[in-house]
Amino acid sequence: MAVLDTMVEALLVPVVVLEDPADAVPLGDALVAGGIPVAEVTFRTAAAPDAIKALAGRDDLLVGAGTVISAEQVDRAVDAGARFIVSPGLLPEVVRRAQEHDVAIVPGAVTPSEIMTALSLGLDTVKFFPANVYGGPSAIKALGAPFGQVRFVPTGGVSAENLDTYLSLPNVIAAGGSWMVKPSLFADGDFTAVTELSKAAVAAARKIKE
Ligand code: 3PG
Repeated sequence: MAVLDTMVEALLVPVVVLEDPADAVPLGDALVAGGIPVAEVTFRTAAAPDAIKALAGRDDLLVGAGTVISAEQVDRAVDAGARFIVSPGLLPEVVRRAQEHDVAIVPGAVTPSEIMTALSLGLDTVKFFPANVYGGPSAIKALGAPFGQVRFVPTGGVSAENLDTYLSLPNVIAAGGSWMVKPSLFADGDFTAVTELSKAAVAAARKIKE
C-alpha cells in the first residue's frame, strides 16, 4: 500500500515530540493499541533520528519525520528509516531531496501560491499549518474551489473538540496533531492515556468520515 494511503486510512497523524528516544517504542505500542498505525516524529529534538530508528521497520506502524526544514534533515530522516517526511513549509530543495530518496513528502502550504508550487513539484497532498491560524476549515474549503485536486492534512490547533470541523471536509484526508501524544501524558512512564485518547480520536474520525 502506498505510504500516504496508510495515512488516509488512519485519518490521523500524531505529531510526536520526544526528548528521550527510549520513549519511542512504548509510545509506538500505545498508538498501535489505540488504533493509530502512524507516527510523525519531529526533528524538533535531538532524539528524533534515534526515535525514528527505534520505530523503523515495524510492520504495524508507519513512522515518518516531521518538522523537517532542510535537505540535510531529509537525508538524516531517511537514513534513520523514516517512510515519510513532513515539513511545516514548502522549500523546493526539501521536496526534491525527498523525491530523490523516493520517500513521500507532505510539505506545508497554506496560500494559493504555495499550493501551486506544491503542484508544480508533482505533489497533491499538503499540510495546512498552522491550521487554526491560517483560516481553519473555512480556508481549506475555499481553497478546494480552485484546487479541487489537492488533499489537505490540517495540523496545528486541531483537537478532539474541533476534529469534526476539519475531517468533515471532503478535501481533508487526515488531521495531524499532538493532542493524543503530548509528553505530559506519559511523563510518569505510563502510556495508557495515549492509547485511550487515540482510541477516542479514531472512533470520532471514523464516524465523521463514514
Ligand atoms: C505540528 O508541528 O504539526 C504542530 O506542532 C502540531 O500542532 P498541535 O500541537 O497544535 O497539535
